[in-house]
Amino acid sequence: MAANPKTDAPVPDILAHAAEVASAAPSIHNSQPWRWEVDGDRLELYAERSRQLAATDPEGRMLTISCGATLHHARLALAGWGWQTQVDRLPDGEGDLLARIRLEGAIPITAEAEQLFRTIGHRHTDRRPVANRPVPPDALQALAAAAYAEGARLQLLHTEQVDDLASATAHAAEIDASDPAIQAELTDWAGGQRTELGLPDEVIPSRPPQTNVASREFGGSGSLPIGDDHDKTAAYGLLYGDEDNQLGWLRGGEALSALWLTAVRLGLGIMPISEPVEVPAGRQILRRSLSYLGWPYLAVRVGIPADGTEPEATPRLPASETVHKH
Ligand SMILES: Cc1cc2nc3c(=O)[nH]c(=O)nc-3n(C[C@H](O)[C@H](O)[C@H](O)COP(=O)(O)O)c2cc1C
Repeated sequence: MAANPKTDAPVPDILAHAAEVASAAPSIHNSQPWRWEVDGDRLELYAERSRQLAATDPEGRMLTISCGATLHHARLALAGWGWQTQVDRLPDGEGDLLARIRLEGAIPITAEAEQLFRTIGHRHTDRRPVANRPVPPDALQALAAAAYAEGARLQLLHTEQVDDLASATAHAAEIDASDPAIQAELTDWAGGQRTELGLPDEVIPSRPPQTNVASREFGGSGSLPIGDDHDKTAAYGLLYGDEDNQLGWLRGGEALSALWLTAVRLGLGIMPISEPVEVPAGRQILRRSLSYLGWPYLAVRVGIPADGTEPEATPRLPASETVHKH
């Protein structure tokens, strides 16, 4: 965990420090599609379009969800250091400026903020099958509450809805496999040695795990050892909200971060499943599980991490690439 900057440190330094901590946030294909600008007493979050996955994510849905996750991380860092913040989302309307944060003054650090903040460095995507133990129902409720507090919702899926998720995912995987631009993007972002961006072999399973909902095919096998277990005790949920637009996706990303860090605190692992949400037909199938009352942002697998070696941390860009101070 990053040390608490001194409360009398210059405000721009505190804001830049929070943005650096926020680089640990999850992002689609580890594209880290954000840019932080520190301008006096303001910390601004921009979508970094040069790292948008043009074929996989043409509308920027997954880019914006990723940016929402880094926004939540930054907010949490500031709260964990005892700062009250004011956050304006899309202050100029839809566009690349996604949020502006200002410090409002010192506040007592809550146990909740501190505990969640401490989990940031322990959160990773674990694509191995989960342990053969069911997730306690009250833990699932805690994840739903964490998402709700951030303005999105988590619908836990019953068996038939998991089947729908599996077919939406299989359908999306077929589309991806037959699209040369998406395949080229996978080659650009996944597999091999990676030092700053994308997914290195070490976090990609060495063979397809046995699971109810197929994991994303990253265009080849990695080197992450996995057991023979089947993911049958995993729980699945759909993160969703009222709006299928930039604000909804940003909030969805903040909710993803909140529920994921809550999961880590409770000893659970999360694996996002975004493939079915990336294609229109997949979104339609998933909307049925929501009784057409909301828009899906992301599916998540929730489980108790398997015993054995956890996957390595995925690399990040140096802060000089993502945080700029004026
Ligand atoms: C919006 C979004 C979509 C993602 N979709 C998937 C996915 O479909 N399959 C998967 O295995 N991981 C998915 N991930 C996880 C990312 O690959 C992961 O966060 C990134 O590689 C960084 O690794 P870390 O989470 O271990 O820090 C997604 C993450 C985000 C934020």
